[in-house]
Amino acid sequence: MNYKHLAESAIKAKQNALPLYSNFYVGAAVLTSGDNVYTGCNIESSSYSLTICAERTAIFKAISEGEREFKAIAVAGDMEDYISPCGACRQVISDLCGEIDIIMVNSNGDYIVKKTSELLPFAFGDKDFE
Ligand code: THU
Repeated sequence: MNYKHLAESAIKAKQNALPLYSNFYVGAAVLTSGDNVYTGCNIESSSYSLTICAERTAIFKAISEGEREFKAIAVAGDMEDYISPCGACRQVISDLCGEIDIIMVNSNGDYIVKKTSELLPFAFGDKDFE
């Protein structure tokens, strides 16, 4: 599957980031099962731990619009290397999106693709307390 378009949406979403303290701009774009795209950016708070990552912004936006099934999420940063989602976002992707493609985009617009379970093996989930 070619994720060029989704990667470009993540790169564009980066422009709206509000990295007040880190100055690290991140954008994300999540693709639903019905081929809708929801974008997100990182938004920082003076109480640093209240910061939200681009991936979770995009996923929560989609879910709040009624979406429940996902195919892929792209994340883009201003790094030469491929950006990699933080642990908190990996858990949220695993919980709310399931086994999807995670597209990690570098500053050239090139990307690599990994599955959720590759980035979060042996994940905790709702199966653990049912
Ligand atoms: N950040 C993201 O938005 N996504 C990632 O995958 C890595 C980190 C944000 C959180 C914070 O605003 C800034 O990047 C520095 O950690």
